Amino acid sequence: MLVNFTSMLKDAYSRHIAIGSFNAYNYETIRGIIEAGRQMGGGPVIVAFGKKYLDNMHLADAVAIVKALAADDPMEVCLHLDHCSDIDIIRQAIAAGFGSVMYDGSALPFEENAANTRLVCELAHAQGVSVEAELGSLAAGDRSHEGTAEDREKYTDPAKAREFIERTGVDALAVSIGTVHGLYKGTPNVRIDILKEIDAQCGIPLVLHGGSGTPEETIKAAIANGISKINVNTEISVYTVDKIKQLLAAKAPHLADLSKLEEKSVTEVVLKYMKFFRNE
Ligand code: 13P
Repeated sequence: MLVNFTSMLKDAYSRHIAIGSFNAYNYETIRGIIEAGRQMGGGPVIVAFGKKYLDNMHLADAVAIVKALAADDPMEVCLHLDHCSDIDIIRQAIAAGFGSVMYDGSALPFEENAANTRLVCELAHAQGVSVEAELGSLAAGDRSHEGTAEDREKYTDPAKAREFIERTGVDALAVSIGTVHGLYKGTPNVRIDILKEIDAQCGIPLVLHGGSGTPEETIKAAIANGISKINVNTEISVYTVDKIKQLLAAKAPHLADLSKLEEKSVTEVVLKYMKFFRNE
């Protein structure tokens, strides 16, 4: 069954577990993620489709595939638009049938981010679609293999986070506490002390970006302090590409076999994270 993420995240927040939000780029990755949800006893799971992968798949195709695979299944699946700063694309995703959208105004000044997020909430909520926004910005460059050296981390300010939520009506807030998009350079320094303060001020489901490679103990501490949705992208790709390389090194497979291997590898990574996120 296709749902928005509001009730699944509220439930996760109250139970101190997190729902995995896994990036998909094509049919195989969507199938792999949904299969992991099934193997975990029926989800719930979030299939995330980022604006940066629009060259791989159209919004309407992502909706059609997720519907075909999950609409008649009792498992709750949310198709989520990841990181999007373009409100026109957000409108298109809402019209196409996405269950949730992330408006990413984190690079903008506070006032502009809040005003745009408020607008996105009005558009989305009118159609029963949930909204995630972001305040603060994740480390990159010197701490991650993604981004540039000029990118500077900006931790989320707890009091500003509370004001942002009150002014926008957002359903979930992505926070910056020291995780990075991409692979970590060096040891992650995740500030659970800042997260505790954000959680105490905000009281709504919080989102952790940069799940790949984050140590299990850090993930557990984050979930205990309000993180209810965790995003994983890089490791799905790295792990799957590595499996494909191994197969190619051994033989010249049929493309259909590569496709099956891709799906199976995605399922393996997603299962690993779903178990962490549910404390299993
Ligand atoms: P990683 O690529 O570090 O797993 O981060 C994923 C993410 O935050 C997507 O929004």
